[in-house]
Amino acid sequence: MKIYIADDYSSLSRRAANIISAQVITKPDSVLGLATGSSPIGTYKQLIDWYNKGDLDFAEVTSINLDEYVGLGKEDEQSYAYFMAKNLFDHINIKKDNINIPNGLADNIERECERYNYVIRGNHGIDLQLLGIGENGHVGFNEPGEAFEKETHEVMLTESTIQANSRLFKSIDEVPRKAISMGIKAIMQAKHILLIANGPKKADAIRETVYGPVTPQVPASILQLHNHVTIICDKEAGKYIKETDLGREI
Ligand code: GLP
Repeated sequence: MKIYIADDYSSLSRRAANIISAQVITKPDSVLGLATGSSPIGTYKQLIDWYNKGDLDFAEVTSINLDEYVGLGKEDEQSYAYFMAKNLFDHINIKKDNINIPNGLADNIERECERYNYVIRGNHGIDLQLLGIGENGHVGFNEPGEAFEKETHEVMLTESTIQANSRLFKSIDEVPRKAISMGIKAIMQAKHILLIANGPKKADAIRETVYGPVTPQVPASILQLHNHVTIICDKEAGKYIKETDLGREI
């Protein structure tokens, strides 16, 4: 993995957007794995900005999102489908048919997970996977657990994630307890993984991801085994990264 520390959130966002736009420019029909959460909002804003300037074209891009809450539909303001529409898709020329997000309202969640696996396979995997990271080291909604979940699956969210994500809901009781998440296998099969993290609450998770043992207790630690990972942190999230490790393959 290669790690970079950006001066602040806006420079982190610009760098991440640069990597995504390079991907789209060099391969216009790229399959982008996309993430939700507050971390990528600045990255998406930057991409929209470049799109508006005519520098980017998403007409042939396919997106495959990481996850969705069980029980929330795309009209629900807390759903990840809604988030993606408001923070990116409504502002660029990606085709609606090329957007993929697990359906949180599916009657049969197991079948929905299967369908999503077919979507990932049918698109021949992901060219560039954007990831945020949970305070407990989760990626997508792959929570710390006994084993690395391989494919799309239903997740019981941990207390720590429910707590962390409750800031976006009116009350903690409204946070769904379950989600559908792409598995570690699909994430690890992405050709390039771009992880972004900002703020002091992410510092421990980044330290464990980079220097800790590879363990399902810190799902992001598996990224140590991937051969093309870029991590961009702000100074706070990257405070435990040794200066000598910056910008080189570790
Ligand atoms: C959620 C999402 C993750 C995201 C994480 C961090 O749990 N499922 O994909 O990376 O939150 O979110 P934030 O960027 O808001 O800190």
